Order: sequence, then C-alpha cells, then structure tokens
Amino acid sequence: MKTWSDEYTAAGASPRVLDIGTGTGNLAGSFAEREAVVTGVDISSGMLSQARKRYGSKITFIQADALSLGGLCDNSFDIVTAGFVLHEMPSDYRVKVLLEMKRLANRFVVVVDYIPNWNPVVAAVEKIEGSYYHQFLNEITGQLRKLS
Ligand SMILES: C[S@@+](CC[C@H](N)C(=O)[O-])C[C@H]1O[C@@H](n2cnc3c(N)ncnc32)[C@H](O)[C@@H]1O
Repeated sequence: MKTWSDEYTAAGASPRVLDIGTGTGNLAGSFAEREAVVTGVDISSGMLSQARKRYGSKITFIQADALSLGGLCDNSFDIVTAGFVLHEMPSDYRVKVLLEMKRLANRFVVVVDYIPNWNPVVAAVEKIEGSYYHQFLNEITGQLRKLS
C-alpha cells in the first residue's frame, strides 16, 4: 500500500504539516519523524513548553488559539491535523476550526479523535464534567462531510 509519505518521498519533497492543538507534540512528532516540515499550534504555554523539550527545533511551535491563525496564508500546508482536540469544543466553535483547517490545507484535513465506543461509565463522567464529547460523537461525521 502506498502512503502519503511514499508519495512525497518519490517526489523528493517534504510535506508541510500543521498540527492544531498539538499539546506535547505526539502527532506532530510522528510526522516530523517521517521528514515532514511540521508546525504545531497550541493555546497552552505549558503544553508547548513540554513539546519544545521533546522536539526542540525539529518542529516550529506557535502559541495561539486555533481561530487566531489569520496570519497564515490559505493552502499553506499540505496536511492539517487535529488530534484529540475537537471533542473538547462546542459545536459552532468546532465547525469554525474545521473551516480554518480546510482554508489552511491544500490537500488533506486529518482528524484523529475518539471512536464511538460509548459506555455508561464514560457517559456518566462526561455528563458530570459537562463535556462536549457526546455532542462531538453525534455531529463530527456530518460536519466532516459538509466540509468536503
Ligand atoms: C487532549 S490534548 C491533545 C494533544 C495532542 N494533539 C495529542 O494528540 O496528544 C488537547 C490540546 O488542545 C489544545 N487546545 C484546546 N483548545 C484549543 C484551541 N482553541 N486552540 C489551540 N489549542 C487548543 C489544548 O491546550 C491541549 O494541548
């Protein structure tokens, strides 16, 4: 099976990747290890400080809200990712972030997040926390379809 990384390697190019809500850099790091040129964005200085300790200058980190990326040009990344971030956002905010990801990506928008494995214990914890997780599970497939 041919992967995105094979495709870029064959073309002698390094894909430009933007990782939204990069946290300590897990997803960003896996792209950087595959020769991508990676930028990670996160709102939290604490998370970015951990990410910088792990990856140093291999990844460019920017402290910003996902909706404050107007300084980045349209289509300026080949792949724009969000890992385990979108379920933390209310619906209208999540849609705006997805639209921003689409604006910045010239090829792929990649969302890595929870799978719909609903169980009563998780449901109770999420309800107590007042989280958007259930809403996310109900809405994300439709929101991604509308994006394409
Ligand atoms: C659960 S962590 C996931 C981190 C990483 N993507 C991973 O998969 O390990 C979610 C991250 O999203 C960041 N985040 C949440 N809302 C954000 C926003 N509006 N703009 C930028 N980052 C945000 C948080 O600070 C946190 O680091």
